[in-house]
Amino acid sequence: MEVILVDGPNDAAHLLADTVEDCVAHTSPTSLGVATGSTPVAGYSELVRRHRAGVGPSYADTTFFTLDEYVGLAADSPATYRATIARDLTDPLGVAADRVHGPDTTPSTLQTAGERYEQLIAEAGGIDLQIVGIGTDGHIGFNEPSSSLASRTRFKTLAHSTRVDNARFFDSIDEVPHHALTQGLGTIMDARKVLLVATGPTKASAVAATIEGPMAARCPASVLQMHPHVVAVVDAEAASQLQWRNYYREAFDGKMRWKGQPGQ
Ligand code: PGA
Repeated sequence: MEVILVDGPNDAAHLLADTVEDCVAHTSPTSLGVATGSTPVAGYSELVRRHRAGVGPSYADTTFFTLDEYVGLAADSPATYRATIARDLTDPLGVAADRVHGPDTTPSTLQTAGERYEQLIAEAGGIDLQIVGIGTDGHIGFNEPSSSLASRTRFKTLAHSTRVDNARFFDSIDEVPHHALTQGLGTIMDARKVLLVATGPTKASAVAATIEGPMAARCPASVLQMHPHVVAVVDAEAASQLQWRNYYREAFDGKMRWKGQPGQ
């Protein structure tokens, strides 16, 4: 895992935007896996700012897949992740709605929703870059502790702590759904590249468990240790419990020096 330590959320946002643009510019067609939650929002704003300034890549050939979706919200609720991604990212980028996919939470066909979403991702050729945030309990997507490390897209019950963390997006905690459809850990592991972004002090323990802890279902994000191409962008507060901070800085500086060599 490549760990990039940054000062704060603003630097993380720029790196997220750089990583997405690099993927879109060099892969065609492109499939992007997009997370919701607070962490990536500043990065999405930066992408939109660059797009409006005319300096971003064309998204005409890009398909978007949301990481997860609440089950139980009204289809037209502004809190659905489909609506959130449209508002924060794909509408401002001018992406047509039929190029933005999320798990289908229609109650009558919920049983097959996971399988159908996997199929949709496969038909698009798999996900080139998957963006993930991390929960305070170490979840990615809505894969709560004890999730199978090989899981595919499926129905999950949210941990109480996750509902408390997400209550800020609703009028009260009672409105936070108890269930979701989420890409599985195996689904996320199939992405060709994963960008994990973690900012703020509440993420410090989950970040340490993910990057330096044992790979274990108690911290679902730790499965990323087995992925060949993960970049973890971590700000100073979220990095505060990492023991190997100095090495991550040395490794990043070393990479930059190496890249500066003639021919690199
Ligand atoms: P956050 O959520 O970005 O709102 O902190 C991350 C997550 O729960 O995966």
